Amino acid sequence: MPANLDITGYAIVSDDDKIAGADGLTPVSLRNPKDWELYQRAQELADLVVFARRSHELEPNIHRRPRLVVSREAAGLELRPDGWWWDPRRTTWEEVAARVLPTGGRVAVGGGQVVFDLFLMIGFDGFHLSRAHGVKLPGGRSVFSAVNADVSAATVLEQHGLKLAERIPLDPTHGVEMTVWRRAPTAVSSRPSNV
Ligand SMILES: NC(=O)c1ccc[n+]([C@@H]2O[C@H](COP(=O)([O-])OP(=O)(O)OC[C@H]3O[C@@H](n4cnc5c(N)ncnc54)[C@H](OP(=O)(O)O)[C@@H]3O)[C@@H](O)[C@H]2O)c1
Repeated sequence: MPANLDITGYAIVSDDDKIAGADGLTPVSLRNPKDWELYQRAQELADLVVFARRSHELEPNIHRRPRLVVSREAAGLELRPDGWWWDPRRTTWEEVAARVLPTGGRVAVGGGQVVFDLFLMIGFDGFHLSRAHGVKLPGGRSVFSAVNADVSAATVLEQHGLKLAERIPLDPTHGVEMTVWRRAPTAVSSRPSNV
């Protein structure tokens, strides 16, 4: 796999860690212009934007960035007119990265839940988790499936090696805050002083 890959996730959630309502759609209460602007900028700068099929269909590719669409209908990894399509059961991420980003680059992971869960296992280098305080979406789609078992999104990120690095009051008037999570550095054993 290329060494210099940076994989960052982006989501805006409700107080109960949901990315969409019970109807499967992102409600207006989770739409925030400041969060949207940063998310769009991240997509513009990305070398590859990853979505599960439904999110891909719902988000027009306005920046015309290379996309990777996760779907059980893909024949492994295949190039279609709207981007690369990938079924992780048939082709590994290592194979995908070597083919699509042979020299590395920035990967922006935009969800939904299937893709966020998948990249927890592959390994995020960072995650930008925005929250619209005061919004609850009972019966909605959670950012990670573990949230359905009462594990908070913050705990899920910690369990997968990320640490809270920054809190940004994105839009205090509307109660929207962003938390930036980064991969915790792995412990390096110290070199003995006599060598
Ligand atoms: N608030 C946020 O930050 C945020 C972020 C992302 C999305 N959203 C919203 O969340 C909603 C969509 O989320 P969602 O979770 O319902 O859908 P999704 O994760 O975007 O897409 C679901 C699709 O993933 C594919 N899939 C499912 N299991 C799979 C597997 N094991 N391997 C490969 N592919 C698999 C299926 O496509 P196939 O049938 O083709 O296999 C399925 O239809 C939308 O309303 C979207 O706008 C919000």
